[in-house]
Amino acid sequence: MSDTTSIIILGASGDLTKRKLIPALFSLHCKRRMPDPFHIVGMARTRSDTETFRQMLKQGMLTLAPKYVDPKEWPVFADRLEYVTGDPADSESLHMLQTTLDRLEGEFQGGRNRIYYMALPPASYGSVLQALGRTGMVDSTPGWRRVVIEKPFGHDLPSARSLNDLVHEVLNEDQIYRIDHYLGKETVQNVLVLRFANSIFEPVWNRNYVDHIQITVAESVGVGHRGRFFDQVGVVRDMFQNHLMQLLSLVAMEPPASFDAEAMRNERAKVLRSVRPILPADVAVDTVRGQYQGYRQEVGVDPHSQTATYAALRLRISNWRWEGVPFFLRSGKALAEKTTEIAVQFKDVPHMMFTRSAGQGIMPNRLSLCLQPDEGIHLRFEMKVPGTQAETRSTNMEFHYASVFGPDAIPDAYERLLLDALNGDASLFTRADTIELAWGLIDPILEGWSLPGAPPLAIYPPGSWGPEEADAFMLDGGRVWELGCARHDA
Ligand code: BG6
Repeated sequence: MSDTTSIIILGASGDLTKRKLIPALFSLHCKRRMPDPFHIVGMARTRSDTETFRQMLKQGMLTLAPKYVDPKEWPVFADRLEYVTGDPADSESLHMLQTTLDRLEGEFQGGRNRIYYMALPPASYGSVLQALGRTGMVDSTPGWRRVVIEKPFGHDLPSARSLNDLVHEVLNEDQIYRIDHYLGKETVQNVLVLRFANSIFEPVWNRNYVDHIQITVAESVGVGHRGRFFDQVGVVRDMFQNHLMQLLSLVAMEPPASFDAEAMRNERAKVLRSVRPILPADVAVDTVRGQYQGYRQEVGVDPHSQTATYAALRLRISNWRWEGVPFFLRSGKALAEKTTEIAVQFKDVPHMMFTRSAGQGIMPNRLSLCLQPDEGIHLRFEMKVPGTQAETRSTNMEFHYASVFGPDAIPDAYERLLLDALNGDASLFTRADTIELAWGLIDPILEGWSLPGAPPLAIYPPGSWGPEEADAFMLDGGRVWELGCARHDA
């Protein structure tokens, strides 16, 4: 008896479905990694039918993800796509969905496994979960039932807690897959392999050798058509609460005993528990906030908006490994380029015998984890300039994924995450406690920024590296923001 698997996308008429979910599922199908048999059922309030849905997805893929369209495989895949018009918070509509699923699953005798993917506006998560619970559609029999929830998960700690409570009324924690797509990125997972599958890095990965760590998630685009959403959220909720906190946990966590979901998630949570919150009274020293020039003229943005499109934070981790090592995190829209990097800046050598020709000091070693777009790892070290007596120059040892594994070797993050959810592996998904711990670090910052006397919002020109205040903030401790991922062999 074979099991059948249905992937039900709630809110299927939105951008996420055609931009990310369908290309990822199609790619898995082409690689023969989908469970067999499978069905994908899209549901949304937009009145449509299966044929139009299939056409719309094909068009979407041709425009947004053309490299994924394999003309031989598409018709086979498209045959598995169905559409149901309806509101997923409404029992009547869910009844229609159930009828479609019964028809699709009917011919199979084994388990009827289902994943519900909430590609919905966050405000409707609660009512949709309640409707799924009320109608018995998430009762795990016969077969398993899982629910994937997109970010943002809450907008502060109290709302995240109530959403978690509501989720737990309907589902067990092991049925829930809260997505943070950064954890699905190949290079982000490689942080753990680099640290824990090599013996040379871990001995120096601590306060004895590391001066500080920088995490940069820079985007060159502005808010585009998401002005209304972004203006209510801001960069700290949109990027730091989730993506940057996850990067911080991976770079700072202790080695888990095994590569299993709970062991990994325990270690990630432990790091966030050790981060000292930036209290409202400290935002003037430990944060910088900025907004790009012209943001207030973007569609959907309040012309007097105080929303930050850029932020830099200095965080400290109170544990044996990291005491005294600052972590600098920055992220912003409309910056000079799109790049995501983690830079581990090592300490100066204890005694210097050499000088540089220009009279500057020798640069300390830096290990740059280049997460995107030119994925790789760069290590900066000093070399003797040939023909000189003892002059030194910094150089880079570089690894590029594209050169070693080929230009298309890195799958999209959604591909990995969907596959893991299908296989029941929750390691790369966020647990309830981690979400709440991260909000516990974000809320006091936002509170501090809203108080009288908070540091003003610094306006920065689009295409720059953010407000000058962010450089001054680093210089204060004698440090500078550094980007180590530019290709040096070009
Ligand atoms: C999303 C944010 O979670 O991540 C967006 O909501 C941001 O504002 C995006 O642009 C960045 O993702 P990536 O994968 O392009 O770095």
